[in-house]
Amino acid sequence: MGAEVAMDTGTAVDGTTFRRVLARWPSGVGIITTAGRDGLRHGMTASSFSSVSLDPPLVLVCLDRRIRSHELVARHGVFAVNVLGRDHIGLGRRFAGLTPGVTDRFAEGDWLPGATGSPVLADATAWVDCRVRHAYPGGDHTIFVGEVIAAGVPRITSPLLFHSRSWGQLADPLPESVTVADTELARTLAAEAGNRRRAARLTAAVRAAGVRVRLPRDELRRSPALPEPVSVRVRNAAEAAEAAAGCRAVEVTVAADGTAATAASVVAAVAGSGTAVVGRVDDALDPARGRAVLHTIGALREAGCGEIALDEAGPRGGEDREDGSPRHLRRLLQDAVPQAGDARLRLALRDHHGLGLVNALTAMKNGVRDFDTGLAGCGGLLPTERLVLLCSRLGVETPVEREALRPCLNELHTLRYGRRRGGPVRPAVP
Ligand SMILES: Cc1cc2nc3c(=O)[nH]c(=O)nc-3n(C[C@H](O)[C@H](O)[C@H](O)COP(=O)(O)O)c2cc1C
Repeated sequence: MGAEVAMDTGTAVDGTTFRRVLARWPSGVGIITTAGRDGLRHGMTASSFSSVSLDPPLVLVCLDRRIRSHELVARHGVFAVNVLGRDHIGLGRRFAGLTPGVTDRFAEGDWLPGATGSPVLADATAWVDCRVRHAYPGGDHTIFVGEVIAAGVPRITSPLLFHSRSWGQLADPLPESVTVADTELARTLAAEAGNRRRAARLTAAVRAAGVRVRLPRDELRRSPALPEPVSVRVRNAAEAAEAAAGCRAVEVTVAADGTAATAASVVAAVAGSGTAVVGRVDDALDPARGRAVLHTIGALREAGCGEIALDEAGPRGGEDREDGSPRHLRRLLQDAVPQAGDARLRLALRDHHGLGLVNALTAMKNGVRDFDTGLAGCGGLLPTERLVLLCSRLGVETPVEREALRPCLNELHTLRYGRRRGGPVRPAVP
């Protein structure tokens, strides 16, 4: 049994116990803002945010009658609630008056006026903008009930939490499902299978198993309008226009610090065909290029790419390099996912230092839902079958049927090593 049991003695609970009890209640953290017609704006950190009604849409906040925010929300008749993300501890402290020397709380963060004029945080995980409909007395606080007149979800990330007087965060959530595209199998088979029919049969089987496969352009010409999802790599608008008729996606690569001009012309060339454009960023996981990569992602999004793929480069350094580091990947994705906006951010991972699956897990926990891989590690990419296995063990759905992949894997293995996977080793020297 716990050490303390409060008995109902009929007397009021003492303040210290009451505060300790409230501190045990975990909550999210928001910044409540308000602004007047005179342009005066103000904001404070609050956890007393709650939904009240769906129709009409109402929320409430409880504000201490002695604080400045109380006076201003009552005067302006409007407020916004900005829900903070896990990386917003600095803002949470600042707007609670816990950061010494701060004179302008809004000097940190990107604040835009909402419909009521109340400041809205551009990278909040969500916000509501409200007009005060009711104000009820609640002891030394006032319960302000606001009608929501505008709302937004600018960024998908896990929330900042508050518990036992400390800041915290949820364990990163996993996605419900991910998709897998094999970008290297067909090219590898073209080089290794030595038999075009066999290569075509294998790639078709992998497509049928639920993996989008990238085909060489000439392959697409031979078998137009394939039923399963395929993609084709193009270099310019003319190649894109030709490919668009037969495939679901065309891929165009740009340098990490390059421009998106070619991607924009490819988007224009396939417009109206229903074909998606994948803008690929070359060597995108180099820690030295973080800023350039984010800029390029923004440019590809503006160019109209429906998917943006980040390509990890092949091995090029010792273990000391941060290439392939989950820490760098996590930092990059925390900015890259919101930067991609509505475009789906794909990741083509390798397996540097055996960290491929760790990076895949890190990516899933940071908002990536789409991966480019290579069956049996074709092209040096993270093996398709290993990612699919990881997903099945994590309870993350994929459209891929693992059983249907198995014969393809066996055939590929036989092709490469002269034996089935797990079969007897053929002597190297006959
Ligand atoms: C996590 C957290 C949650 C808070 N929640 C509330 C709240 O719901 N209501 C409130 O009146 N104050 C709350 N506060 C305290 C205010 O943020 C703090 O008093 C602030 O300085 C008020 O600013 P103001 O006087 O400029 O309006 C909270 C503080 C923290 C750190």
